[in-house]
Amino acid sequence: MIRSPLITVMVQAVRKAGRALIRDFGEVEQLQVSVKGPADFVSAADRKSEDVLFAELSKARPTYGFLMEERGRVDGTDDANEWVVDPLDGTTNFLHGIPMFAISVALVRNGVPMAGVIFNPANDELFVAEVGQGAYLNDRRLRVAGRRKLAECVVCCGLPHMGRGDHEQFNRELGVVQRQVAGLRRTGSAALDLAWVAAGRFDAFWERKLAPWDMAAGLVMVREAGGFVSDMDGGEKILEKGDVLAGNELIHRDLQRLLKSA
Ligand code: IPD
Ligand code: CA
Ligand code: CA
Ligand code: CA
Repeated sequence: MIRSPLITVMVQAVRKAGRALIRDFGEVEQLQVSVKGPADFVSAADRKSEDVLFAELSKARPTYGFLMEERGRVDGTDDANEWVVDPLDGTTNFLHGIPMFAISVALVRNGVPMAGVIFNPANDELFVAEVGQGAYLNDRRLRVAGRRKLAECVVCCGLPHMGRGDHEQFNRELGVVQRQVAGLRRTGSAALDLAWVAAGRFDAFWERKLAPWDMAAGLVMVREAGGFVSDMDGGEKILEKGDVLAGNELIHRDLQRLLKSA
């Protein structure tokens, strides 16, 4: 486990927010839910978790700015450091009682993700990573899977939202990928998808039209577990473009080619 002051602050904050989420998960039918767009929900649990994270992280690092899903951008006095926060990744799962959701917190310094923490409080899985320090699940060091052939791989994807994204393109991609891989999965939490690539559970993951808070922590996680992560063109503009493709070096390359051919 990494015990740097930065990771300690992040872990304390996500654990506290996780306790709030678990209380609400126990009474999910009583939660106030509103709709931000087609199939895009936000609940009192998202907001409560965000309040806890905002309070804890502001207390520990009063000068840092924020980019949070529900609050948006909150400038700090320090231009270099920004917390990028998804207080509840997998809201739809959460509201359906599916225990596959997470809190995702990244520290982005001058535009570069430096540390990430992804916590699923439903099963107490805590993923942490810091540049140069490796990636961990609880106390276990993580390494991406080593499979070399797509035909042996379990690949995870995200689906375009109802009314958002290119459904035709996704259907073409799914058509080619499903013929070439051992298994396909869709979990409903992009942050966990990336953490699970880092943990070697998924060999690869791709999704388009994500927001920075879905990915920032996961990018550090995959890289520190020895994986490759890029936008769909193989470039570095992941947070800017919102497209992500992750896996080990070989599988990342092969999946990128396959998706291009779709
Ligand atoms: C969503 C999840 C989901 C992804 C969506 C995201 P939210 O985040 O990460 O896996 O497919 O695009 O919006 O809204 O539950 O935080
Ligand atoms: Ca959301
Ligand atoms: Ca999210
Ligand atoms: Ca969210």
